[in-house]
Amino acid sequence: MSKRSEPARAFYKENTGREKELKELLKSLQTGQNVAIIAPPRFGKTALITQALQQFKGKPISTAYIDLLSNSTTELLSNSLIKETLKNHKLHKEYISARKDLGSFYTNKGLQTIAAAFPFITRLDDHSLDTWELLSKCLDFPHVLSSSLNQKLICAYDNYGNGLHLESGGRLAKLVSSKIGQHTSTTHLLAGRNESAFLSLKAIHLIRMGFIESQFLIDSLDKKFTRLKIKMPRKYTNALVYMTKGHPYYTKCAFEQIILEHSLNGTIPSPKELKNLLMAAEKGYIEKVWEDLLHNKEYLHTMLALSQGSKNIYQRLQSMKINVARAQKNLELMGYLMKKESGGYAIADPLLEYWLRKNR
Ligand SMILES: Nc1ncnc2c1ncn2[C@@H]1O[C@H](COP(=O)(O)OP(=O)(O)OP(=O)(O)O)[C@@H](O)[C@H]1O
Ligand SMILES: [Mg+2]
Repeated sequence: MSKRSEPARAFYKENTGREKELKELLKSLQTGQNVAIIAPPRFGKTALITQALQQFKGKPISTAYIDLLSNSTTELLSNSLIKETLKNHKLHKEYISARKDLGSFYTNKGLQTIAAAFPFITRLDDHSLDTWELLSKCLDFPHVLSSSLNQKLICAYDNYGNGLHLESGGRLAKLVSSKIGQHTSTTHLLAGRNESAFLSLKAIHLIRMGFIESQFLIDSLDKKFTRLKIKMPRKYTNALVYMTKGHPYYTKCAFEQIILEHSLNGTIPSPKELKNLLMAAEKGYIEKVWEDLLHNKEYLHTMLALSQGSKNIYQRLQSMKINVARAQKNLELMGYLMKKESGGYAIADPLLEYWLRKNR
């Protein structure tokens, strides 16, 4: 890691502006209350889960972090469930080695005991077994092992219910949600982009993560710049936060760009240059979203109209014969829109919003 990026890293280690959400989350987890974190992409769900789970390190509570997006097949998910569970017993590295050399399951003492009680963990590569039955056992594994050791467990499922189209007819999602319902003594922490995924789960506390409060971010950025001995007019930080709207990821990117420019050239990009730098960095992502939108007239026109504000959106789109309510709901499921507290929807990604306004 270069010296240059250290200050930026230090800034973002703190999960700036999410203290309230973290407190609320920890309170639920400590009392055994199941929680769902809901936010559009890149609002900091994973960062918040990671921070929350870290607080339980060294305490007599087991934790398991399962990413349903990167483990989207039965095989990957089964492996991840076992590995994450065994991390609590510092046996995950041994487990990874044992998958390559099955004999190790019986030569390592700790692994041997667990493999004797849960023999299926040795059979992930056995193609004669039904992968769904195996997954069902693996989904029970964190819960059953911790219960048998009289230990509390917090099990986090990240990227829960993301996207409109769930794989294999939603079978994986259904299985995971039924296990969550059965494992009543385990505390579940779920994170996803849309609320509807959590509606079938009973007695779950919802935490919605929105944009970070602007004034808080401005003060916090000013302090960071002062600490880094970068002279920054208040007007500039105001303009920065106005541009990112308090979007955590873009604020982080903007900060990093400033540090980079400052250390390379001793200059600060103007707010306009900063926006262009961010746009250039995000070009690939934004163009991909744009391509997605071009495939669906309803989505495209709804997004374009919302980039001009949500007021009178139904009237403004009336002549196009668009089902605006349906389009907004689906765009929320896709992570492009978020519900506003005052009602209606807003585009969740400020750079995408600028792009849409420009390309209208
Ligand atoms: N409050 C914050 N302070 C500083 N950095 C943050 C904050 N929130 C998010 N970030 C940074 O923004 C990026 C995106 O965060 P993260 O991956 O946690 O978002 P996410 O909501 O899980 O997104 P996705 O839905 O795509 O999984 C990360 O690089 C993270 O470090
Ligand atoms: Mg995430």
